[in-house]
Amino acid sequence: MIKRTHYCGDVTEALLGKEVAINGWLDTRRDHGGVIFFDVRDKFGKVQVVFDPEINKELHEIAHKLRSEFVLGIIGKVRPRPEGTTNTRLKTGMIEIVASKIEVFNQSQPLPFPIDESSEVNEDLRLKYRYLDLRRPKILNNMIIRHTLTKLIRKYLDENQFVDVETPVLFKSTPEGARDYLVPSRVNPGMFFALPQSPQMLKQLLMVAGLDRYYQVVKCFRDEDLRADRQPEFTQIDIEMSFIDEDDIMGHSENFIRNVFEHVQQVKLPNPFKRITWDMAMEEYGNDKPDTRFEMKLKTVSEVFDGSDFKIFSETVKSGGVVKAMNFKASADKLSRKDIDDLVAFAIRQGAGGMAWIRFAEKPESPIVKFISEDRVNKLKELMGVEKGDIVFFMADKKEKVNDILSRVRLHVGEKYALYDVKKLEFLWVVDFPLLSWSLEDKRYEANHHPFTAPKEADIPMLDIDPLKVKARAYDLVLNGTEIGGGSIRIHDSALQKKMFNLMNIDDASAEMKFGFLLEALKYGAPPHGGIAFGLDRMAMIITGSQSIRDVIAFPKTSKAQCLLSNAPSEVEIRQLKELSIKVDIQ
Ligand code: AMO
Repeated sequence: MIKRTHYCGDVTEALLGKEVAINGWLDTRRDHGGVIFFDVRDKFGKVQVVFDPEINKELHEIAHKLRSEFVLGIIGKVRPRPEGTTNTRLKTGMIEIVASKIEVFNQSQPLPFPIDESSEVNEDLRLKYRYLDLRRPKILNNMIIRHTLTKLIRKYLDENQFVDVETPVLFKSTPEGARDYLVPSRVNPGMFFALPQSPQMLKQLLMVAGLDRYYQVVKCFRDEDLRADRQPEFTQIDIEMSFIDEDDIMGHSENFIRNVFEHVQQVKLPNPFKRITWDMAMEEYGNDKPDTRFEMKLKTVSEVFDGSDFKIFSETVKSGGVVKAMNFKASADKLSRKDIDDLVAFAIRQGAGGMAWIRFAEKPESPIVKFISEDRVNKLKELMGVEKGDIVFFMADKKEKVNDILSRVRLHVGEKYALYDVKKLEFLWVVDFPLLSWSLEDKRYEANHHPFTAPKEADIPMLDIDPLKVKARAYDLVLNGTEIGGGSIRIHDSALQKKMFNLMNIDDASAEMKFGFLLEALKYGAPPHGGIAFGLDRMAMIITGSQSIRDVIAFPKTSKAQCLLSNAPSEVEIRQLKELSIKVDIQ
């Protein structure tokens, strides 16, 4: 068998005159009036191989019969490409291999789609034949970058006394807020394991055990509605530390993230990363994962409309709502009336009752300007820092709704009008989250992060007075508007933990059933501890410039949580269900 001496992508001028052996796939074959050229491909690139009938007639005849994606071993001598045929864009573009021996390891049927990247291929087809899709250099390279990312993070954590501990996959429901994937137990009829949504409680137990610094590159499972940055099974870089505070966790996280991005993307990131409070993020960006690659911040301008004749707005303010605005700077020339109407229509599609605007050209122009006094328009101008040529958009409703919709309009405008450099990397810590929120549906308080997150020390007395005002010792890391990680300092006192459960209306019996083992562990000398988890897939998605999380996962699921390659999930045999004491009753 011909075994490689070099990867295809590594055959360069340094090997001129030497004999090399390569293994790989026939990428393309060109017949140039007698001489045949192959591009042979492996995971590190392509190299040109020449079959010249005047040099070796027999080999040339074999080459003539070979087709794309045949699997080959080739031995030959490296020579410079003739003048005028070099390709400076390719690492191997200055040389070619003159074949002296060939071995055909396997043939290939014509593929369901071409491997070359320029052809647009339907994603379902790509996922059905994922092993072929992975032959495409871009996707294959994503796997290599993902590997580098994990390797660098592991190296950092290893060098900083973090110990990699595996935690069980067959476990109990974990409180990350999504639906569980359940696994029936054959030997315990009617009982189920839940696949962990994260190893949250287990890593806390490892702190009680004295492990001090833990990490794991770990699969997590969440049965939730899928989006471009969500998968039902995804990977976390999961971390927990003892005897630390927020700055320790954020400091280590920044260190390895800076290291990874500097290595993979050759960029220098700020030290430290910026921080913003949750209150400020909601006020200025309308959401808790702000994309800070561009300005166009939101601002509350209720005072402009309070008591005005513009009834819809003044009444919203009177009944406790808000008016918020954003200034699309220097856009008056860029946006036609139709463009403005399109943005209003976008806001309405997101659920807005409407979106008002004023274009500040020579004088303020807008269908509503006649309802607002000049003084009030001037006040709006002042608050929004308006200069000639700006357009201000504004909306009145309940605060949460205005924030939600205006933040979406902001992102839409940012993308549509290219308000930022897509290559820019904007990291931002969001801190001081509210500990709890009120669930209208369940009529009870819910933990914003998870129920083990510690309240700010100074706010603990407020748990009894105004729980919604209590801030959490939680932090999220946001990159370009995507939450790539989140964590918190934990409660390590069992009485406070119990109090939290009570506040959330989780009675003692169900707290015992769900989290009893953790509550008990906290009674046996639990150290102060905290941690964080990063979404490895999301980080890989951004670092590789991919549009979808699926492009950085070797065998991903579709948005309907299906694997098109294997057709999982699928029906099982009645016998298997019987063994599990399960009856399927599909309505
Ligand atoms: P959290 O639920 O915030 O925290 O998850 C941590 C990070 O995991 C990523 N992530 C996902 N990525 C892809 N698909 C999904 N469905 C998905 N869900 C989450 C995000 C997120 O920031 N145990 C806590 C961490 C802790 O407190 O230490 C936890 O799991 O990037």
